Amino acid sequence: MLRARAAMRMAGSRLSLRGTRTLSTRAAVSPKMVLPFEAIPQCPGSTWLQMLQMWKKQGYESLHLQMHQNFQELGPIFRYDMGGRQAVSVMMPEDVEQLHQVESQQPWRMLPEPWVAYRQHRGQKCGVFLLNGPEWRFNRLRLNPNVLSPKAVQRFIPMVDTVAREFVQVLQQKVQQNARGSLTLDLQPSILNYTIEASNLALYGERLGLLGRTVSSESLSFLRALDTMFRSTVGLMFLPRSLSRWTSTHVWREHFEAWDHIAHHVNHSIQRIYQQLKVDCDGHYRGIVAELLLHAELSPDAIKANSLELTAGSVDTTSHPLLMTLFELARNPSVQQALRQESLAATATIAANPQRVFSDLPLLRAALKETLRLYPVGLTVDRKVSSDLVLQNHHIPAGTLVQVYLYSLGRNPAVFPRPERYYPQRWLHRDPGRTFQHVAFGFGVRQCLGRRLAEVEMLLLMHHVLKSFLLETQSQEDMTMVYHFVMKPSNYPLVTLRPVN
Ligand code: HEM
Repeated sequence: MLRARAAMRMAGSRLSLRGTRTLSTRAAVSPKMVLPFEAIPQCPGSTWLQMLQMWKKQGYESLHLQMHQNFQELGPIFRYDMGGRQAVSVMMPEDVEQLHQVESQQPWRMLPEPWVAYRQHRGQKCGVFLLNGPEWRFNRLRLNPNVLSPKAVQRFIPMVDTVAREFVQVLQQKVQQNARGSLTLDLQPSILNYTIEASNLALYGERLGLLGRTVSSESLSFLRALDTMFRSTVGLMFLPRSLSRWTSTHVWREHFEAWDHIAHHVNHSIQRIYQQLKVDCDGHYRGIVAELLLHAELSPDAIKANSLELTAGSVDTTSHPLLMTLFELARNPSVQQALRQESLAATATIAANPQRVFSDLPLLRAALKETLRLYPVGLTVDRKVSSDLVLQNHHIPAGTLVQVYLYSLGRNPAVFPRPERYYPQRWLHRDPGRTFQHVAFGFGVRQCLGRRLAEVEMLLLMHHVLKSFLLETQSQEDMTMVYHFVMKPSNYPLVTLRPVN
């Protein structure tokens, strides 16, 4: 019955699952006739139960594919039961636009419970990622000028540029030492090290030495703690705490120990900045956190809480789109060549002013959008709506949780013709009215706080790599993604680097 109704609602746009099956996904009802909330197709069964079954069977690694399948069967909007509350899932850019239009000054997002539980248990404050309401806004308005504003970007961009150049130099040395004059390697560890090194410098003004030959045991255990924290988050976030405290005691312990480790790293870095500022306050830029401490618009505890989130948010996020871009360019030589030409032409202007990466590399910016379309980092962007609205001709009452599924949005052939194709040019000369097609960083006043730092890290690394190396891979296979709180490639092929000259 449900499927028959979904089939009737589907006409117009088409959606494909991994490029194999296709189904249409646009409501065929009259656009004037607004249907009640109850008419939204319901995902059968209780979500908690489904989640428990999934967890027992294979974990949550393919949650994005499961949801994609639901859109195929139920249409571009469906609702499900989230432990007694109704949540609505959508995947069309026009719905994101509607959500943006009704957004209040304090957009409400669902918070990952294990992260909040850790802070509650340790008596610590939350930062913007884990706040809603007036406290979120208070924090966010004081963070934006030091993290997201063009002025802030101008100050940390030379730091990131130094790390990106050094990353390429280290690789060049390795290529030269190799008798074959090329280097075939798994890029994952070095890209992860790059993002940690660049973010740590921009945040705390401190080098960790991750690009060198020997990595300190301290840095290695910090990396392990971050990995454990993300992995254990997924194991805990879909089950009610009252249940997981019995079923997953060891996972909770692991999760808390990992956060303790990350918090220790953050506190140590903040203490070091305090000491430096005491003896030497010469106006020299020392990174984002030093600026927050100097301006003192947030309490030291709030700065610590936000620094912890910025640190946790800065690692596994940026490294995956970088890896996926390198892979896509390795298997698409003509796209790679077009990007290299753009980078070579912009070499002098960017060397003189690294801020020009934003204006002088339009195709590279488009390539990063294309990567995030196919391989988004977040599973959803979600909002509890503060006023009634209409999505896909259905009435959505205030207070409903609406989740936009990024994987399904990016792979809808009605929005992106031939969605399986890696084609950055599709983002050039786009109609400005269609900005809600690129929402990998979220939207509106609550969009990603680290967006500019992430973009700078990706643009500068790609710019320097493209000027120096030709990228090749033997693998033509499509990459599959797994959901580990952030989405990441399940396996990564070897990539060969050859000097451009
Ligand atoms: C490619 C890299 C990244 C992607 C795709 C990404 C994506 C996102 C998304 C989708 C959100 C939710 C936005 C919304 O609800 O509208 C978000 C929030 C956030 N991100 Fe990122 N992010 C990335 C990198 C970073 C980095 C590098 C940092 C830290 C330096 C960071 C820190 C944060 C924080 C603190 C929030 C919470 C903002 C708030 O609620 O006010 N992210 N990010």
